[in-house]
Amino acid sequence: MQRFAILTSGGDAPGMNAAIAAAADRVEALGGEAIGVSRGFAGLVQRQAAPIAGRAAAHALEAGTWLQTSRWAQLREPEGVQRCREALAELEVDGLVVLGGNGSAAAARAVAGERPVAFVPATIDGDVSGTEVSIGMDSAIAYGVDVIERLLVTGRSLPGRAFLVQTLGAPGGTLADAVAAATGIQDALVPERPAHLDELARRLGEQAETGAAVAVMSEAVGDAVAIAAQLAPRAGVRVHPTILGHAQRAATPSAFDRSLATAAGALAVGELAAGRSAFVTLTAGGQARAVGLGAT
Ligand code: F6P
Repeated sequence: MQRFAILTSGGDAPGMNAAIAAAADRVEALGGEAIGVSRGFAGLVQRQAAPIAGRAAAHALEAGTWLQTSRWAQLREPEGVQRCREALAELEVDGLVVLGGNGSAAAARAVAGERPVAFVPATIDGDVSGTEVSIGMDSAIAYGVDVIERLLVTGRSLPGRAFLVQTLGAPGGTLADAVAAATGIQDALVPERPAHLDELARRLGEQAETGAAVAVMSEAVGDAVAIAAQLAPRAGVRVHPTILGHAQRAATPSAFDRSLATAAGALAVGELAAGRSAFVTLTAGGQARAVGLGAT
């Protein structure tokens, strides 16, 4: 009987639980045993692992990751990688599914060896290269849209104020740009482009007359409270900062993320069962496809 381990790594992302459930289901459908590793790679080296038969499905629709996760810096060292490989051997698993972002992709590539590793992009940041989208991003965008809709309600009801919404997504601005695009906001402050604060302040001041004055920024460009304080005198109106913070990461998984995660989790296990390491690439159209994991 084949045994496959599943772990989540780095920041949690909405939809991770659906992917875990789908991966566990697929393992069982193949007549194998799914092993859940708690707390990512840090948990793996501590052998925090147990069969998850029947348990994963109960969490499938929840945000976050019921397996819990961690950021484990030692994976950047050859010794950390070796400890992970030893743990996999000792746990007698035939392969590992890793769900996470950029850093976790590098970790998956490093750990893959005698035992195959299948990586599934799952992060709200939308910054994993080699995939169009990642599990969790759609839900995090939807959360940002929901908050902005509410700010527009109060903004239109009591005109004369502006709002600056800070998203997660550091070190990049992909998430902030996506939230802006989904709400028809012209521009977001992101690290990839120079900031034109005077121009933004002028626009916010004008828009505040009608009540629909909202700007978006990535946490990567700085502190929303400080930037709002810089904008306010130039805009001539109060600028209220709204920090989405970690609530954005815990957004309710969208239907898109759930179905994407379900397809990706099952596909990852299929690759491992065939003895292959893989990178599960995900399209904006909701397709999951397995390609080579690549080198570190
Ligand atoms: O996982 C990605 C992310 O949510 C980023 O968007 C954010 O900058 C970071 O994690 C926050 O990390 P932590 O929860 O460790 O503070």
